[in-house]
Amino acid sequence: MAERVLVTGATGYVGRHVCARAARAGWILRALVRPGSDRRSIETNATEYHVGCVTDPASLQGACEGCQAVIHLVGIIHEGADSFEKIHVEGTRNTVAEARRAGVRRFVLLSGLGSRPEAPARYHRTKAEAERTVRESGMEAYVFPASVIFGPEDAFLNRFLAMARSWFHPPWPLMPVPGGGQGYLQPVGVDDVAEVLVRALDRDPPFPPGTYELGGPDALRLREIVELACRAAPSRRLLVPVPLFLLQPMAWLFEQTMSKPPLTRDQLRMLGEDGRPKANRTADWLGRPPERLADYLARRAFPRGR
Ligand SMILES: NC(=O)c1ccc[n+]([C@@H]2O[C@H](COP(=O)([O-])OP(=O)(O)OC[C@H]3O[C@@H](n4cnc5c(N)ncnc54)[C@H](OP(=O)(O)O)[C@@H]3O)[C@@H](O)[C@H]2O)c1
Repeated sequence: MAERVLVTGATGYVGRHVCARAARAGWILRALVRPGSDRRSIETNATEYHVGCVTDPASLQGACEGCQAVIHLVGIIHEGADSFEKIHVEGTRNTVAEARRAGVRRFVLLSGLGSRPEAPARYHRTKAEAERTVRESGMEAYVFPASVIFGPEDAFLNRFLAMARSWFHPPWPLMPVPGGGQGYLQPVGVDDVAEVLVRALDRDPPFPPGTYELGGPDALRLREIVELACRAAPSRRLLVPVPLFLLQPMAWLFEQTMSKPPLTRDQLRMLGEDGRPKANRTADWLGRPPERLADYLARRAFPRGR
């Protein structure tokens, strides 16, 4: 008999890829959606919907009924109407409580690399609390802290690609690099992440419940990532280091005036961290090396830059 999985955050960037892969793997897919969520990207894959919000426990009632597993993807990268505490900590607690009530066997969480209780960024601290809730849930808990995830609709790499392709923002031929771009990241492809998460649902997964860091094959300085984006755009830019302390007031201003700030002070704190996994388990889970960012950019076709 086919088994059923609840995917939260199904309409998000990673969620869309996870839904497609879970459906291909034969799972009956139930997507948690909010009343206003744009369902178009998952319509062909989700067979069932539960309308609810992770911050409202009453709305989650029944979401996990008949589900053997949950993949929990709801998360935010900047605070606005909802705080990190509300979404990551309370939202995860509410989802775990509903899963336990319904007798779900396995709970899979996508978290952020570097999450720990003493981290400088509130994103990381609240994700660490979410991880703890899942580990202590009593269900078979799979926690995947991932580095930045690249793909066709990502918000990170596409920002640099858009800047590299634009005449106006920033003024040609300069490309600002926060903090000089010396910090490391280990970007991992969205299809690889989705494959790992869905593999964790297997009746007989390759590894026992636990925490498995996900990253791509290459540790890259932010500066190298920006260079790769410029080359792919293609666009010749002079990379200009901008000290993080100069970006702080700009980030503050964005936070005060915009509902979706392009940069926040919390993100600047994260950029100051070493974003390399200590024990990268992506290849172990995939049974092959994950895709390289450079290869992804090479196979993605871009119209000629201006
Ligand atoms: N993207 C990365 O590079 C990356 C790296 C590491 C970890 N992660 C983690 O991976 C997860 C998914 O990231 P993403 O990039 O796919 O995020 P995303 O595109 O912003 O998607 C977020 C999803 O969460 C849903 N959501 C937000 N608040 C909700 C609420 N109160 N109740 C129910 N659903 C709610 C959104 O629904 P609507 O469609 O209604 O807005 C959307 O489906 C997040 O937890 C993130 O922290 C991401």
